[in-house]
Amino acid sequence: MRDLNPFQFSGPLAPEDMIDRDPEADDLLTLALGGHSFRLLGPRRYGKTTLLRRVLDAAEREGMATILVDLQDVLSIAEVVVRIERAYDRLKGPVRKRVEALLRTWDIGLSLGGGGFTATLARNPSVDSEAVLLRLLELPRELLDRDGTTSLIVFDEIQDVLVVPGADGKIRSVIQHHQQAATYAFVGSAPGAMRQLFQDPQRPLLDQAVPRDLAPLPTAQTAEYIERRFARSGRDPGSALTPLLDFARGHPQRSMMLAHYLWQRTPRDARADERTWLSALDRAAGDSAPLMHAIWRALSVNERRVMLALAVLGTPLHSEQTAAAVGIKRSSIGAAVESLLAKADLIRAGERLQITDPMFEDWLAGRGRSDTGEPDERPS
Ligand SMILES: Nc1ncnc2c1ncn2[C@@H]1O[C@H](COP(=O)(O)OP(=O)(O)OP(=O)(O)O)[C@@H](O)[C@H]1O
Ligand SMILES: [Mg+2]
Repeated sequence: MRDLNPFQFSGPLAPEDMIDRDPEADDLLTLALGGHSFRLLGPRRYGKTTLLRRVLDAAEREGMATILVDLQDVLSIAEVVVRIERAYDRLKGPVRKRVEALLRTWDIGLSLGGGGFTATLARNPSVDSEAVLLRLLELPRELLDRDGTTSLIVFDEIQDVLVVPGADGKIRSVIQHHQQAATYAFVGSAPGAMRQLFQDPQRPLLDQAVPRDLAPLPTAQTAEYIERRFARSGRDPGSALTPLLDFARGHPQRSMMLAHYLWQRTPRDARADERTWLSALDRAAGDSAPLMHAIWRALSVNERRVMLALAVLGTPLHSEQTAAAVGIKRSSIGAAVESLLAKADLIRAGERLQITDPMFEDWLAGRGRSDTGEPDERPS
Protein backbone atom coordinates (compact mmCIF):
# COMPACT_ATOMS: atom_id res chain seq x y z
CA MET A 1 0.00 0.00 0.00
CA ARG A 2 1.27 3.48 -0.80
CA ASP A 3 2.27 5.62 2.12
CA LEU A 4 0.44 8.85 1.31
CA ASN A 5 0.49 11.87 3.58
CA PRO A 6 -3.08 12.07 4.97
CA PHE A 7 -2.98 15.81 5.81
CA GLN A 8 -4.05 18.10 2.99
CA PHE A 9 -3.36 21.75 3.58
CA SER A 10 -4.40 23.59 0.48
CA GLY A 11 -7.81 24.12 -1.08
CA PRO A 12 -11.19 23.05 0.27
CA LEU A 13 -11.47 19.58 1.84
CA ALA A 14 -14.03 16.85 1.14
CA PRO A 15 -16.63 16.62 3.92
CA GLU A 16 -15.28 13.22 5.08
CA ASP A 17 -11.80 14.73 5.56
CA MET A 18 -12.93 17.54 7.83
CA ILE A 19 -12.16 17.97 11.48
CA ASP A 20 -15.49 18.48 13.22
CA ARG A 21 -17.50 21.58 12.20
CA ASP A 22 -20.57 19.39 12.82
CA PRO A 23 -22.47 22.02 14.86
CA GLU A 24 -21.64 24.74 12.30
CA ALA A 25 -22.73 22.56 9.36
CA ASP A 26 -26.01 21.65 11.10
CA ASP A 27 -26.70 25.24 12.02
CA LEU A 28 -26.07 26.60 8.50
CA LEU A 29 -28.06 23.80 6.86
CA THR A 30 -31.01 24.49 9.14
CA LEU A 31 -30.86 28.16 8.23
CA ALA A 32 -30.63 27.35 4.51
CA LEU A 33 -33.50 24.87 4.51
CA GLY A 34 -35.60 27.31 6.51
CA GLY A 35 -35.07 29.97 3.88
CA HIS A 36 -32.93 32.19 6.12
CA SER A 37 -30.08 33.83 4.27
CA PHE A 38 -26.88 34.16 6.27
CA ARG A 39 -23.41 35.66 6.20
CA LEU A 40 -20.39 33.76 7.42
CA LEU A 41 -17.29 35.56 8.54
CA GLY A 42 -13.99 33.82 9.18
CA PRO A 43 -10.31 34.71 8.73
CA ARG A 44 -8.39 33.53 5.67
CA ARG A 45 -7.90 29.76 5.56
CA TYR A 46 -10.27 29.02 8.41
CA GLY A 47 -12.19 26.49 6.32
CA LYS A 48 -15.06 28.65 5.08
CA THR A 49 -15.27 27.11 1.62
CA THR A 50 -14.83 23.61 3.04
CA LEU A 51 -17.75 24.16 5.42
CA LEU A 52 -19.98 25.75 2.81
CA ARG A 53 -19.35 22.94 0.34
CA ARG A 54 -20.50 20.47 2.95
CA VAL A 55 -23.64 22.52 3.57
CA LEU A 56 -24.30 22.70 -0.18
CA ASP A 57 -23.93 18.91 -0.55
CA ALA A 58 -26.44 18.38 2.24
CA ALA A 59 -28.88 20.95 0.81
CA GLU A 60 -28.61 19.29 -2.59
CA ARG A 61 -29.64 15.99 -1.03
CA GLU A 62 -32.70 17.85 0.29
CA GLY A 63 -33.61 18.80 -3.27
CA MET A 64 -32.28 22.35 -3.49
CA ALA A 65 -30.36 23.63 -6.50
CA THR A 66 -26.97 24.56 -5.01
CA ILE A 67 -24.56 27.08 -6.44
CA LEU A 68 -21.16 28.29 -5.15
CA VAL A 69 -20.02 31.52 -6.77
CA ASP A 70 -16.34 32.28 -6.18
CA LEU A 71 -15.89 36.05 -6.33
CA GLN A 72 -12.24 36.14 -5.32
CA ASP A 73 -10.38 38.93 -7.14
CA VAL A 74 -13.22 39.87 -9.52
CA LEU A 75 -12.56 43.13 -11.31
CA SER A 76 -15.58 43.85 -13.50
CA ILE A 77 -19.29 43.22 -13.92
CA ALA A 78 -18.48 40.96 -16.90
CA GLU A 79 -16.28 38.88 -14.65
CA VAL A 80 -19.04 38.60 -12.04
CA VAL A 81 -21.28 37.24 -14.82
CA VAL A 82 -18.63 34.69 -15.79
CA ARG A 83 -18.21 33.55 -12.17
CA ILE A 84 -21.94 33.02 -11.70
CA GLU A 85 -22.25 31.21 -15.02
CA ARG A 86 -19.30 28.99 -14.04
CA ALA A 87 -21.01 28.20 -10.74
CA TYR A 88 -24.14 27.00 -12.56
CA ASP A 89 -21.89 24.95 -14.83
CA ARG A 90 -21.12 22.68 -11.86
CA LEU A 91 -24.76 21.62 -11.57
CA LYS A 92 -25.63 18.07 -12.54
CA GLY A 93 -28.74 16.11 -13.45
CA PRO A 94 -32.20 17.47 -14.23
CA VAL A 95 -31.59 20.95 -12.71
CA ARG A 96 -28.65 21.43 -15.02
CA LYS A 97 -30.81 20.53 -18.01
CA ARG A 98 -33.43 23.05 -16.95
CA VAL A 99 -30.82 25.78 -16.55
CA GLU A 100 -29.32 24.94 -19.95
CA ALA A 101 -32.75 25.16 -21.55
CA LEU A 102 -33.47 28.51 -19.88
CA LEU A 103 -30.17 30.01 -20.98
CA ARG A 104 -30.86 28.87 -24.53
CA THR A 105 -34.27 30.55 -24.62
CA TRP A 106 -32.89 33.77 -23.17
CA ASP A 107 -30.29 33.90 -25.96
CA ILE A 108 -28.11 36.56 -24.30
CA GLY A 109 -24.74 34.88 -24.73
CA LEU A 110 -24.82 32.65 -21.63
CA SER A 111 -24.36 28.88 -21.73
CA LEU A 112 -23.12 25.98 -19.62
CA GLY A 113 -20.02 24.24 -20.93
CA GLY A 114 -18.50 25.50 -24.15
CA GLY A 115 -17.20 29.05 -24.24
CA GLY A 116 -20.10 30.60 -22.37
CA PHE A 117 -20.08 34.33 -21.66
CA THR A 118 -16.28 34.53 -22.05
CA ALA A 119 -16.64 33.59 -25.72
CA THR A 120 -19.53 36.04 -26.10
CA LEU A 121 -17.33 38.85 -24.73
CA ALA A 122 -14.49 37.90 -27.07
CA ARG A 123 -16.85 38.09 -30.05
CA ASN A 124 -18.60 41.23 -28.91
CA PRO A 125 -16.72 43.27 -26.29
CA SER A 126 -19.44 45.92 -26.15
CA VAL A 127 -22.10 43.49 -24.92
CA ASP A 128 -24.20 44.95 -22.07
CA SER A 129 -22.80 42.93 -19.15
CA GLU A 130 -24.97 44.74 -16.60
CA ALA A 131 -28.16 43.67 -18.32
CA VAL A 132 -26.85 40.10 -18.57
CA LEU A 133 -25.97 40.12 -14.86
CA LEU A 134 -29.45 41.28 -13.86
CA ARG A 135 -31.01 38.54 -15.96
CA LEU A 136 -28.67 35.84 -14.66
CA LEU A 137 -29.45 36.83 -11.08
CA GLU A 138 -33.12 36.11 -11.85
CA LEU A 139 -32.39 32.44 -12.56
CA PRO A 140 -33.52 31.20 -9.11
CA ARG A 141 -36.94 32.79 -9.62
CA GLU A 142 -37.35 31.16 -13.00
CA LEU A 143 -36.37 27.77 -11.54
CA LEU A 144 -38.99 28.22 -8.82
CA ASP A 145 -41.68 29.20 -11.32
CA ARG A 146 -40.86 26.32 -13.61
CA ASP A 147 -41.08 23.41 -11.17
CA GLY A 148 -40.85 24.67 -7.62
CA THR A 149 -37.08 24.16 -7.24
CA THR A 150 -35.57 26.43 -4.59
CA SER A 151 -31.92 27.45 -4.67
CA LEU A 152 -29.11 27.88 -2.17
CA ILE A 153 -26.63 30.36 -3.57
CA VAL A 154 -23.29 30.99 -1.90
CA PHE A 155 -21.31 34.10 -2.77
CA ASP A 156 -17.80 33.20 -1.59
CA GLU A 157 -15.31 36.04 -0.97
CA ILE A 158 -18.22 38.49 -1.25
CA GLN A 159 -16.08 41.42 -0.04
CA ASP A 160 -14.24 41.36 -3.36
CA VAL A 161 -17.32 42.78 -5.17
CA LEU A 162 -16.60 46.06 -3.41
CA VAL A 163 -13.86 46.82 -5.92
CA VAL A 164 -16.34 46.50 -8.82
CA PRO A 165 -18.28 49.77 -9.04
CA GLY A 166 -22.01 49.14 -8.82
CA ALA A 167 -21.80 45.36 -8.48
CA ASP A 168 -23.15 45.11 -4.93
CA GLY A 169 -26.02 47.41 -5.88
CA LYS A 170 -26.97 45.25 -8.86
CA ILE A 171 -26.88 42.10 -6.78
CA ARG A 172 -28.91 43.76 -4.04
CA SER A 173 -31.55 45.05 -6.43
CA VAL A 174 -32.39 41.55 -7.64
CA ILE A 175 -31.90 39.22 -4.71
CA GLN A 176 -33.95 41.22 -2.24
CA HIS A 177 -37.05 40.05 -4.13
CA HIS A 178 -36.16 36.35 -3.90
CA GLN A 179 -37.62 35.43 -0.52
CA GLN A 180 -39.36 32.37 -1.92
CA ALA A 181 -36.95 31.35 -4.65
CA ALA A 182 -33.54 31.39 -3.02
CA THR A 183 -31.55 31.43 0.17
CA TYR A 184 -28.28 33.35 -0.03
CA ALA A 185 -25.08 32.73 1.88
CA PHE A 186 -22.40 35.42 1.86
CA VAL A 187 -18.94 34.33 2.88
CA GLY A 188 -16.12 36.72 3.66
CA SER A 189 -12.86 37.03 5.53
CA ALA A 190 -12.57 40.76 6.20
CA PRO A 191 -14.85 42.03 8.99
CA GLY A 192 -14.36 45.64 7.86
CA ALA A 193 -15.56 44.99 4.31
CA MET A 194 -18.40 42.78 5.55
CA ARG A 195 -19.58 45.62 7.77
CA GLN A 196 -19.52 47.91 4.77
CA LEU A 197 -21.70 45.46 2.83
CA PHE A 198 -24.20 44.53 5.52
CA GLN A 199 -24.41 47.27 8.07
CA ASP A 200 -24.99 50.28 5.88
CA PRO A 201 -28.50 51.22 7.05
CA GLN A 202 -29.18 52.87 3.69
CA ARG A 203 -28.34 49.87 1.58
CA PRO A 204 -27.41 46.60 3.24
CA LEU A 205 -26.65 43.86 0.73
CA LEU A 206 -29.54 41.92 2.15
CA ASP A 207 -31.76 43.25 4.91
CA GLN A 208 -31.77 40.10 6.92
CA ALA A 209 -28.77 37.90 6.54
CA VAL A 210 -28.20 36.09 9.83
CA PRO A 211 -24.60 36.76 10.96
CA ARG A 212 -22.32 33.87 11.89
CA ASP A 213 -18.62 33.81 12.85
CA LEU A 214 -16.33 30.88 12.21
CA ALA A 215 -14.26 30.01 15.28
CA PRO A 216 -10.95 28.09 15.48
CA LEU A 217 -11.18 24.28 15.51
CA PRO A 218 -11.76 22.62 18.88
CA THR A 219 -8.55 21.15 20.32
CA ALA A 220 -9.91 17.76 21.35
CA GLN A 221 -11.31 16.95 17.89
CA THR A 222 -8.15 18.20 16.19
CA ALA A 223 -6.01 16.00 18.44
CA GLU A 224 -8.20 12.98 17.81
CA TYR A 225 -8.12 13.51 14.03
CA ILE A 226 -4.32 13.80 13.94
CA GLU A 227 -3.88 10.72 16.13
CA ARG A 228 -6.31 8.68 14.05
CA ARG A 229 -4.66 9.59 10.77
CA PHE A 230 -1.19 8.89 12.14
CA ALA A 231 -2.40 5.53 13.50
CA ARG A 232 -4.08 4.58 10.22
CA SER A 233 -0.74 4.98 8.47
CA GLY A 234 1.25 3.09 11.15
CA ARG A 235 2.55 6.10 13.07
CA ASP A 236 2.11 7.80 16.43
CA PRO A 237 2.35 11.58 16.95
CA GLY A 238 3.52 10.89 20.53
CA SER A 239 4.80 13.85 22.51
CA ALA A 240 4.88 16.03 19.38
CA LEU A 241 1.11 16.37 19.44
CA THR A 242 0.74 18.75 22.39
CA PRO A 243 3.28 21.35 21.18
CA LEU A 244 1.73 21.20 17.71
CA LEU A 245 -1.76 21.88 19.09
CA ASP A 246 -0.47 24.65 21.36
CA PHE A 247 1.36 26.30 18.49
CA ALA A 248 -1.51 26.09 15.95
CA ARG A 249 -4.20 27.13 18.50
CA GLY A 250 -7.03 25.80 16.32
CA HIS A 251 -6.09 27.58 13.09
CA PRO A 252 -7.46 25.01 10.62
CA GLN A 253 -5.01 25.34 7.75
CA ARG A 254 -1.98 25.75 10.01
CA SER A 255 -2.99 22.70 12.07
CA MET A 256 -3.21 20.60 8.91
CA MET A 257 0.01 21.98 7.49
CA LEU A 258 1.98 21.29 10.65
CA ALA A 259 0.47 17.80 10.94
CA HIS A 260 1.54 17.24 7.33
CA TYR A 261 5.15 18.21 8.08
CA LEU A 262 5.19 16.19 11.29
CA TRP A 263 3.87 13.10 9.51
CA GLN A 264 6.49 13.53 6.82
CA ARG A 265 9.23 13.45 9.44
CA THR A 266 7.86 10.43 11.26
CA PRO A 267 8.90 7.10 9.70
CA ARG A 268 6.39 4.24 9.48
CA ASP A 269 6.11 2.26 12.74
CA ALA A 270 7.71 5.13 14.65
CA ARG A 271 6.53 7.60 17.28
CA ALA A 272 7.21 11.32 16.94
CA ASP A 273 8.63 13.29 19.85
CA GLU A 274 9.51 16.89 20.64
CA ARG A 275 12.58 16.75 18.45
CA THR A 276 10.48 15.61 15.51
CA TRP A 277 8.11 18.50 16.22
CA LEU A 278 10.91 21.09 16.25
CA SER A 279 12.32 19.77 13.02
CA ALA A 280 8.84 19.77 11.40
CA LEU A 281 8.24 23.35 12.56
CA ASP A 282 11.63 24.43 11.26
CA ARG A 283 10.90 23.00 7.85
CA ALA A 284 7.37 24.45 7.76
CA ALA A 285 8.77 27.87 8.73
CA GLY A 286 11.47 27.67 6.08
CA ASP A 287 9.00 26.69 3.35
CA SER A 288 6.52 29.40 4.25
CA ALA A 289 9.07 32.20 4.79
CA PRO A 290 8.55 33.72 1.31
CA LEU A 291 4.80 33.87 1.94
CA MET A 292 5.36 35.41 5.38
CA HIS A 293 7.57 38.01 3.77
CA ALA A 294 4.83 38.83 1.23
CA ILE A 295 2.27 39.20 4.04
CA TRP A 296 4.69 41.53 5.84
CA ARG A 297 5.22 43.66 2.74
CA ALA A 298 1.45 44.02 2.27
CA LEU A 299 1.03 45.63 5.71
CA SER A 300 1.35 49.37 6.27
CA VAL A 301 4.37 50.48 8.27
CA ASN A 302 2.34 51.12 11.44
CA GLU A 303 0.56 47.78 11.05
CA ARG A 304 3.99 46.10 10.91
CA ARG A 305 5.01 47.90 14.07
CA VAL A 306 1.91 46.75 15.95
CA MET A 307 2.28 43.16 14.72
CA LEU A 308 5.91 43.11 15.75
CA ALA A 309 5.05 44.50 19.18
CA LEU A 310 2.41 41.82 19.70
CA ALA A 311 4.76 39.06 18.56
CA VAL A 312 7.86 39.97 20.52
CA LEU A 313 7.17 42.42 23.34
CA GLY A 314 5.76 41.59 26.71
CA THR A 315 4.86 45.22 27.48
CA PRO A 316 1.22 46.48 27.36
CA LEU A 317 0.38 47.36 23.76
CA HIS A 318 -0.74 50.92 24.38
CA SER A 319 2.20 51.87 26.61
CA GLU A 320 4.94 54.41 25.90
CA GLN A 321 7.45 51.61 26.26
CA THR A 322 5.86 49.63 23.43
CA ALA A 323 5.51 52.71 21.26
CA ALA A 324 9.18 53.61 21.71
CA ALA A 325 10.38 50.04 21.16
CA VAL A 326 8.77 49.68 17.72
CA GLY A 327 8.92 53.34 16.71
CA ILE A 328 5.22 54.19 16.58
CA LYS A 329 3.40 57.17 18.09
CA ARG A 330 1.29 55.98 20.96
CA SER A 331 -1.71 57.79 19.51
CA SER A 332 -1.37 55.81 16.26
CA ILE A 333 -1.53 52.35 17.83
CA GLY A 334 -5.34 52.28 18.05
CA ALA A 335 -5.86 53.01 14.36
CA ALA A 336 -3.36 50.33 13.31
CA VAL A 337 -5.07 47.78 15.56
CA GLU A 338 -8.48 48.65 14.10
CA SER A 339 -7.21 48.27 10.59
CA LEU A 340 -5.62 44.88 11.37
CA LEU A 341 -8.87 43.72 13.00
CA ALA A 342 -10.86 44.88 9.97
CA LYS A 343 -8.80 42.55 7.77
CA ALA A 344 -8.77 39.74 10.36
CA ASP A 345 -4.98 39.82 10.52
CA LEU A 346 -5.69 40.19 14.23
CA ILE A 347 -8.50 38.54 16.14
CA ARG A 348 -9.75 38.93 19.66
CA ALA A 349 -9.24 35.92 21.86
CA GLY A 350 -11.29 36.86 24.91
CA GLU A 351 -9.80 40.10 26.15
CA ARG A 352 -6.55 39.61 24.30
CA LEU A 353 -5.51 40.59 20.81
CA GLN A 354 -4.03 37.69 18.93
CA ILE A 355 -2.17 37.45 15.64
CA THR A 356 -4.49 35.26 13.56
CA ASP A 357 -1.80 33.26 11.81
CA PRO A 358 0.53 31.47 14.24
CA MET A 359 3.14 30.95 11.49
CA PHE A 360 3.27 34.68 10.91
CA GLU A 361 3.68 35.31 14.62
CA ASP A 362 6.52 32.81 14.71
CA TRP A 363 8.16 34.45 11.69
CA LEU A 364 7.86 37.86 13.32
CA ALA A 365 9.47 36.51 16.43
CA GLY A 366 12.58 35.85 14.42
CA ARG A 367 12.41 32.49 12.76
CA GLY A 368 13.11 32.55 9.04
CA ARG A 369 13.37 36.29 8.68
CA SER A 370 17.06 36.06 7.85
CA ASP A 371 16.13 33.60 5.03
CA THR A 372 14.19 36.33 3.29
CA GLY A 373 16.72 39.10 3.49
CA GLU A 374 14.47 41.10 5.79
CA PRO A 375 16.67 43.07 8.20
CA ASP A 376 16.19 42.02 11.76
CA GLU A 377 14.10 44.85 13.14
CA ARG A 378 13.42 43.10 16.36
CA PRO A 379 13.58 45.70 19.10
CA SER A 380 16.28 45.07 21.66
N1 LIG B 1 -12.77 21.43 9.13
C1 LIG B 1 -11.50 21.30 8.73
N2 LIG B 1 -10.78 20.23 9.10
C2 LIG B 1 -9.50 20.09 8.73
N3 LIG B 1 -8.84 20.99 7.99
C3 LIG B 1 -9.49 22.07 7.61
C4 LIG B 1 -10.86 22.29 7.94
N4 LIG B 1 -11.24 23.45 7.40
C5 LIG B 1 -10.15 23.92 6.74
N5 LIG B 1 -9.11 23.11 6.85
C6 LIG B 1 -7.75 23.31 6.31
O1 LIG B 1 -7.67 24.61 5.77
C7 LIG B 1 -7.39 24.56 4.35
C8 LIG B 1 -8.16 25.67 3.68
O2 LIG B 1 -9.56 25.41 3.73
P1 LIG B 1 -10.60 26.31 2.92
O3 LIG B 1 -10.09 26.54 1.54
O4 LIG B 1 -11.92 25.69 3.10
O5 LIG B 1 -10.52 27.65 3.77
P2 LIG B 1 -11.07 29.09 3.41
O6 LIG B 1 -11.42 29.74 4.71
O7 LIG B 1 -12.14 28.99 2.38
O8 LIG B 1 -9.75 29.73 2.82
P3 LIG B 1 -9.57 31.03 1.89
O9 LIG B 1 -9.56 32.18 2.84
O10 LIG B 1 -8.21 30.81 1.25
O11 LIG B 1 -10.70 31.05 0.91
C9 LIG B 1 -7.75 23.16 3.93
O12 LIG B 1 -6.96 22.70 2.83
C10 LIG B 1 -7.44 22.36 5.17
O13 LIG B 1 -6.08 22.04 5.24
MG1 LIG C 1 -12.34 29.93 0.54
